[in-house]
Amino acid sequence: MINKTLAQMETGLGSTEQGYLVMYSVARAIQAVRIIEIGTHKGGSAIAFCQAVLDNGHTPHIWTIDDWSRRPGSKGRALANISQAGFTKYIELVQGRSEDVLPSLFQRVQRVDAVLIDGGMDRGTEDFILCEPHTDCFVLKDTKPRADGGREWDWGKIEEKGWNVVNLPTRHLKGDGHLVGIAIATRRGKCDDTA
Ligand SMILES: C[S@@+](CC[C@H](N)C(=O)[O-])C[C@H]1O[C@@H](n2cnc3c(N)ncnc32)[C@H](O)[C@@H]1O
Repeated sequence: MINKTLAQMETGLGSTEQGYLVMYSVARAIQAVRIIEIGTHKGGSAIAFCQAVLDNGHTPHIWTIDDWSRRPGSKGRALANISQAGFTKYIELVQGRSEDVLPSLFQRVQRVDAVLIDGGMDRGTEDFILCEPHTDCFVLKDTKPRADGGREWDWGKIEEKGWNVVNLPTRHLKGDGHLVGIAIATRRGKCDDTA
């Protein structure tokens, strides 16, 4: 595992080990420093991103959004896990629903190197639309349909807006093996040879 605290964290973190590896690898590959994530839960993905930035020799600036309304206890776990990793000074917890807090957060933060969308299941595309003027790279979680429907994604709309999407069929290996799916979206003309 990419980070000792992450490896020791409890189960039910919200992402698979393969998912954290993709987040870590993307952040390292694009030399991200400033990252926003929607869906903190217990802090696992914030820790993975923070470790990636540090391993590239940079100082991380990470803003992580959650309202913790369904599992209020997870906020305390996130704070404790981030503190145990020694990352409190790099990660700002922003409490609220993405649709409510993103506009004011972007007024303050302007542009970021990457955004993770891992919040409301009903608002994959809506969160994408809110964030896309402010970044050239996304990591999109839960991209495969599941028995309960899964996260809502309108791939046609995302591609129409000028994004290339690579969708990886990751699985929940430590669970029942179901497809999870994680995608990397990059703005066309920024990360390819069409510029
Ligand atoms: C799958 S968990 C996130 C897991 C985390 N990104 C990780 O990989 O370690 C999804 C989280 O999104 C939060 N959430 C759901 N709807 C949201 C919204 N509209 N705005 C912000 N957070 C939301 C939930 O409270 C939950 O903690």
